[in-house]
Amino acid sequence: MSITNFPTGTGSASAGIPITKVTVPALAEMKRQSKPISALTAYDYSSSRLADEAGIDLLLVGDSLAMVVLGHDNTLAVTVDEMLHHTRAVRRAVRRALVVADMPFGSYHGTVSEGLTNAVRFLKEAGAEAVKIEGPRVELVRALTDAEIPVIGHLGLTPQSLHRMGGYRVQARTAESANRLKADALALADAGAGAIVLEGVPAEITAELPVPTIGIGAGPECDGQILVFHDLLNLTFAPPAKFVRRYADAGTLIRTAIEHYREDVEHHVFPSDEESYHLPESAKRVMAVKAAKGVLRKA
Ligand code: KIV
Repeated sequence: MSITNFPTGTGSASAGIPITKVTVPALAEMKRQSKPISALTAYDYSSSRLADEAGIDLLLVGDSLAMVVLGHDNTLAVTVDEMLHHTRAVRRAVRRALVVADMPFGSYHGTVSEGLTNAVRFLKEAGAEAVKIEGPRVELVRALTDAEIPVIGHLGLTPQSLHRMGGYRVQARTAESANRLKADALALADAGAGAIVLEGVPAEITAELPVPTIGIGAGPECDGQILVFHDLLNLTFAPPAKFVRRYADAGTLIRTAIEHYREDVEHHVFPSDEESYHLPESAKRVMAVKAAKGVLRKA
């Protein structure tokens, strides 16, 4: 069975809920029905499985993993091979959500042909169902679409353009740049993009597009919302951006649990007798006899 060969509309998730696999065309249908798209970043098996079982529609293996998982200062360092490694782990966990892989910096900034070759790897070697690319790369989106690779665009504050932008700044704050962003979004949609992530743009200029928009710091009018897993759960080590809502404090939960574990080890409270394995009575008897014989021989 192929890793992507989950039954559509028939199987059941571990919570007993019937699976209706989310696909790129399903996102368009959700937009048509005004059903908001929930999206989250994902990087490993256990958290992706939890997110999938919680009913998230789209899981993005974001290149933000460079920062929140690998500890880099920005997203630029992460490689195609590292992104493939994490995409495979997410793929193994997910039954219902659409699995989208972020193409990392440098993997699609040369020729269209190079971008195409790298994108193919995400579907072929890691089981991604779509790739995401940053910026108005219309020619590449058209080529990927022609090659049967669903593609999601990403406009506005595009973190791979950090150095060109001069920092992580809200984009499209003037009428001129807002209109340019709308034109870019329309061009990507026209080239075949299945959805467009809008990041760090004023809520007022969220473009009315023929394809779903998924916002992050782009206001409530988008067709869906995406957050970084670690932001949602307070697993980061810096103050959150304005658009982040923390739904739980997993950072404190994890730190406290680990402190308790360390204290229990230090005070010989862990493991308890119940948490230890024991010899069966028969083996204990044999050992006792042997020990007694040893004592007699020495005497
Ligand atoms: O890499 C990422 O996490 C992203 C989201 C912020 C959309 O691109």
